[in-house]
Amino acid sequence: MKINGRHYRTIWVKKDDPSVIQAIDQRFLPHELIIEDLKDVDAMAAAISEMHVRGAGLIGAAAGYGMYLAALHAPASSEEAFMSAILDAGEKLKATRPTAVNLEWAVNRTLEAIKVEKGIENKIIAARKTADAIADEDADSCRKIGEFGLSVIEEISRRKNGEPVNILTHCNAGWLAFVDYGTATAPIYAAHEKDIKVHVYVDETRPWNQGGRLTAFELGQNNVPHTIVTDNAAGHLMQRGMVDMVIVGSDRTTATGDVANKIGTYLIALAAHANGIPFYVALPSSTIDWKIRDGIREIPIEKRSENEVKYVRGRTEDGRTETALITPKDSPAANYAFDVTPSYFVTALITEKGICPATEEGITRLFWKA
Ligand code: MRU
Repeated sequence: MKINGRHYRTIWVKKDDPSVIQAIDQRFLPHELIIEDLKDVDAMAAAISEMHVRGAGLIGAAAGYGMYLAALHAPASSEEAFMSAILDAGEKLKATRPTAVNLEWAVNRTLEAIKVEKGIENKIIAARKTADAIADEDADSCRKIGEFGLSVIEEISRRKNGEPVNILTHCNAGWLAFVDYGTATAPIYAAHEKDIKVHVYVDETRPWNQGGRLTAFELGQNNVPHTIVTDNAAGHLMQRGMVDMVIVGSDRTTATGDVANKIGTYLIALAAHANGIPFYVALPSSTIDWKIRDGIREIPIEKRSENEVKYVRGRTEDGRTETALITPKDSPAANYAFDVTPSYFVTALITEKGICPATEEGITRLFWKA
């Protein structure tokens, strides 16, 4: 997608220096566009855990490139020494963030590709090819999600005789959370490109403000009409008939259609259910954890530092970036990063293969049956 009219992905191999991975450092958006050079697996692991890069698809791609960086720097004295360093790197990357399954999936996929090759040179080539494939497939899946999800927006637009379709989204399941296009935003961009009138309510998404900082930034950069609202406004907007549909992303989806997404998603699903508003989840199949069936019991929920709740970072009028304490200094805070929305609150899943009910049967039919 575009920043100041120029197309960017969120992560890529540096032109003219394939030993360096470059990524947009999202801690500085929307005020500054900073591109970070990542040169080894430790730097990549820190970038993931400290959220320079974030979002399910992007941390999957970052993990793939982290494995490639690990392969570049692993000891070449013997295949055993090389593989031992690679396995350690995989564990290090997997430990960075527990909820999004893409991370573990990307590490395992790259590991398998490295293992089957003979000779260190070939193993390094396999790591690079796999990381590139993960990134390209992520972008491609998101583009297809946009095409499928467009039909949902088109249908509502027809019903409203071309009046703007009001869409509420939470967190950032936009292109910044993936390699390109995004999931929840991809149908919105597709509709906007087709001149279907849309307007997006962007939940601010405390405490890290992915909505207010990132989703608003990318919608603005792509000229999509939007309004930032506080997280607790959703119920009010829905009661007043101001929301036609909700669309969010997913960090891990069970084989039965339960969805883990940014904290606060469950409350929005409850409000949508109570108000008869369709609640869609857009996701690439890389976020489906086929091994698990009960999201509430089985999806690990990340707990992050209390400082993310107690402090806010922002830009002063004179252009300085400042961090300010907004709570009593000694009050403890709990920072749960995700919650689980049970499948029965989900109207449908929008995936790269098509749209299906959020049920085991619906998902199985879409992905496993011809
Ligand atoms: O903590 P983050 O910013 O990495 O959160 C992940 C997300 O981007 C959201 O939960 C998103 O809505 C899911 S789609 C990547």
